[in-house]
Amino acid sequence: MNWSTEKRYLKYNQWDAETLLKLQKQADLSKYQLHYHIRPSSGLLNDPNGFSYFDNQWHVFYQQFPFGAVHGLKSWHHMKSSDLVHWSDQGIAILPDSKYDSHGAYSGSAMAIDDNLFLMYTGNVRDKNWIRHSYQNGAWMDKDGKITKIPQPLFNAPKHVTEHFRDPQILRFRDKYYAILGAQDKDTKKGKISLFTADDITSQWKDLGYIDFTSDDMGYMIECPNLVFIDDQPILIFCPQGLSHNVSEYQNIYPNMYFIGEKFHFDSGKFTTTQKKPLNLDDGFDVYASQAINAPDGKVYLISWVGLPDVSYPSDHENWANCLSQVKQLSLKNGHLIQRPVNTITKLRKDGHSIHSEKNINGHQIIHKHASQQYELKLTISANQNGTLHLVSDKTSTNSLQLKFDTQKGTFEVDRANCGISFNQKYGTSRCIELPKNQSLDLDIFIDHSLAEIFINNGEHVMTLRYFTDSKNNQIILEADQKLNYYGTYWNLADM
Ligand code: FRU
Repeated sequence: MNWSTEKRYLKYNQWDAETLLKLQKQADLSKYQLHYHIRPSSGLLNDPNGFSYFDNQWHVFYQQFPFGAVHGLKSWHHMKSSDLVHWSDQGIAILPDSKYDSHGAYSGSAMAIDDNLFLMYTGNVRDKNWIRHSYQNGAWMDKDGKITKIPQPLFNAPKHVTEHFRDPQILRFRDKYYAILGAQDKDTKKGKISLFTADDITSQWKDLGYIDFTSDDMGYMIECPNLVFIDDQPILIFCPQGLSHNVSEYQNIYPNMYFIGEKFHFDSGKFTTTQKKPLNLDDGFDVYASQAINAPDGKVYLISWVGLPDVSYPSDHENWANCLSQVKQLSLKNGHLIQRPVNTITKLRKDGHSIHSEKNINGHQIIHKHASQQYELKLTISANQNGTLHLVSDKTSTNSLQLKFDTQKGTFEVDRANCGISFNQKYGTSRCIELPKNQSLDLDIFIDHSLAEIFINNGEHVMTLRYFTDSKNNQIILEADQKLNYYGTYWNLADM
């Protein structure tokens, strides 16, 4: 299909129902389709939006273009859950059908206020000359899921930013509302995070200027900023575009990064930190636009888009693209950000069996001859050993997702160079992290048809990635030159 601008921005009611049904069926039938992650019912999914707890349920929305695997006219799609694992599809939530969001209901957040969920999002508007205008809009969702847009924008972009001003996250602190937004400064064309405040969520929003969190240059634009508090410490999560590799190292086209702070001053926008440079939130290939919340149960949760802007994926040929990560629980340990699967994910486990190193076996060791395409594998590999764990592997372990470990040197590498269809190679085919030397390695691996989420050392690192391989490649093989010591458990995982 040739995606002209005109076609990307056709109004939703100009598409016929039959086309949409066909696309939904195509996505349903894809052999790469996810079975226990949120995925688009058709077309393209991108950022998670409005992650929240309201009316005794968890809610998350996602950015979507339902008519193809391209970034076209965006809307919000609603999912609901009682346990952060089983999500039910609630359909389209915010349509780009008003004067202030005519070219896309872009990213935003949600907050439960009294008996409603308040949604705040960016309305993307193009004028006759295709010049972009950005409005920050509000809407109320009642307990029946009925959404009513507030007719006028809550506020317009301040004079000192360009048309790149979007993705509000609403926060509440002592009787006041705050919003932080991704911005591009007009004078310098640099990426910034704007801070706004209001006493009443629907009126008189005031600009408090930019958040002061670093003296380094954060590139030409910051998208999807997020502020959460863990044990009273502020964590600032954001997506800098065009960040210099001299400031902080990353390999994906655009990184999703964070700073752990000491204090955030809501009145001045000062974020104090001793962290020298922003760090990658995920050490894999495909995480962007993550959204975190301080939940009413006192915990902090994070959900990510598994996909990147300006990148194509093999499923594009089937007219659908991307998914959301599983929900991760955030905590701090010895000053480090820890990301773990939520406890309720264990509800999906079935057919568990334990795995042990076998005596006197060198070289190849088959951990599972016929693994399913959706499983969890927990594995602890003893200190001072090295080898390769092949996932989604053929018999000879030549075509596989390779996890190369050296628990003596403390290195861990994920290599997808020989794992089915090659894609996005321009940004490298492997990702490497450093771990403490001479220590055992703890892996908690989640596989879902074309998605791998690898939690390392109890959540000290996460490496998330997509792969597109033949379903016949279903072995799990451990390869090493020496006898390996390890133990673990394998579970098949149920559909959500
Ligand atoms: C990030 C992003 C946001 C924007 C949305 C549009 O992926 O570009 O900045 O609001 O996607 O879909």
